[in-house]
Amino acid sequence: MTGAAMRAVRVFAFNDRSKVAVCDLPTPTPQPGEVLVEVKAAPVNYVDLVTMRGEYQFKPELPYTPGKGPVGVVAAVGPDVDRVTIGDRVLAMAEYGGYAEYCLAPAAQTYRLPDEVGFFDAADMSLAYDTAWMALIDRARLQAGDRVLVLGATGAVGRAAVQLARALGAGQVVVGVSSADRFPELRRLGADDYVEVAGDRLRDTIRDRVLEVTGGHGADVVVDMLGGDVFDGAVRAVAWRGRLVVVGFATGRIPTLKMNYPLLKNIEISGLQISDYRKRLPERLDECFTNVFELAKRGALTFQPAEAFPLDEWHRGLEALESRSARGRVLLVP
Ligand SMILES: NC(=O)c1ccc[n+]([C@@H]2O[C@H](COP(=O)([O-])OP(=O)(O)OC[C@H]3O[C@@H](n4cnc5c(N)ncnc54)[C@H](OP(=O)(O)O)[C@@H]3O)[C@@H](O)[C@H]2O)c1
Repeated sequence: MTGAAMRAVRVFAFNDRSKVAVCDLPTPTPQPGEVLVEVKAAPVNYVDLVTMRGEYQFKPELPYTPGKGPVGVVAAVGPDVDRVTIGDRVLAMAEYGGYAEYCLAPAAQTYRLPDEVGFFDAADMSLAYDTAWMALIDRARLQAGDRVLVLGATGAVGRAAVQLARALGAGQVVVGVSSADRFPELRRLGADDYVEVAGDRLRDTIRDRVLEVTGGHGADVVVDMLGGDVFDGAVRAVAWRGRLVVVGFATGRIPTLKMNYPLLKNIEISGLQISDYRKRLPERLDECFTNVFELAKRGALTFQPAEAFPLDEWHRGLEALESRSARGRVLLVP
């Protein structure tokens, strides 16, 4: 099928939806080290929106097809590839190209799916469970009994972090939500308490509430997808020798930090960039997905593939994420 026509979303200019269209392209041929995947579902990621706006730190060359981490079936493999074979069901961590009928991905970043995990659930997993796992395990060195604070808990990475923290033995899981009425959906995923991350004086209100619900202890581990004023409050809510991991800035502001905080409180602030982990430590990602797939097979994780849009309605998918109206993962289905 390589060389035959396929349909793909193409971005011809940054930050201009009128310059995005579904086009016919030749289906690519996998080169050494590559796999061609017939896409069954592609998650609409927050980072896809940022990249399409031209605001991501890595800008793809135009025109390009957005879509990180689609899932599907291996349709062809490059000459030297033996990690997967034609017909395998996979999660394919391509940087771009998922909003299409076929997508190329590095073979080394392609993960065979267990039979028990459907394509939509796997698409919900993509770029969320791997990110949350690395944040908790590698960056924050989560210990059994730790009190964990997840900020942006209703999002894709947040829902994953809540469930993984619980499954990995956290003593308490506190979630940061934009309003209290979002707490019940997270309680069902294993959260114990919540802190509201909206309103004025977040610097004080987040610290006060976290101290209140943790009996004055604070959070041993913080996973922060929000940044901005939320980060400013969260730093003050970290327990002695606690670890805060910066994952994203969904509030729109990259925060700054006075380094007297880490010094005076004996705390660590670190960052996570999952793409780098995939490239530099692929064996850690293999380990991560083996563990996450095992939890999924045991029924320990609840996936939330909420809305699936056909490729032609890519703009509705982006709008569902942008408007913050989706209650689960938004997908595109070719
Ligand atoms: N570093 C990495 O390797 C990596 C990997 C994956 C993702 N990320 C980043 O992590 C962040 C979250 O990604 P995601 O996929 O989980 O996104 P998502 O599914 O769109 O979720 C966004 C989350 O942020 C919350 N939020 C957005 N604006 C907010 C505001 N002004 N105040 C309070 N809460 C707000 C949302 O709350 P509501 O539900 O109330 O709207 C939701 O919980 C993004 O910045 C993304 O780029 C980084």
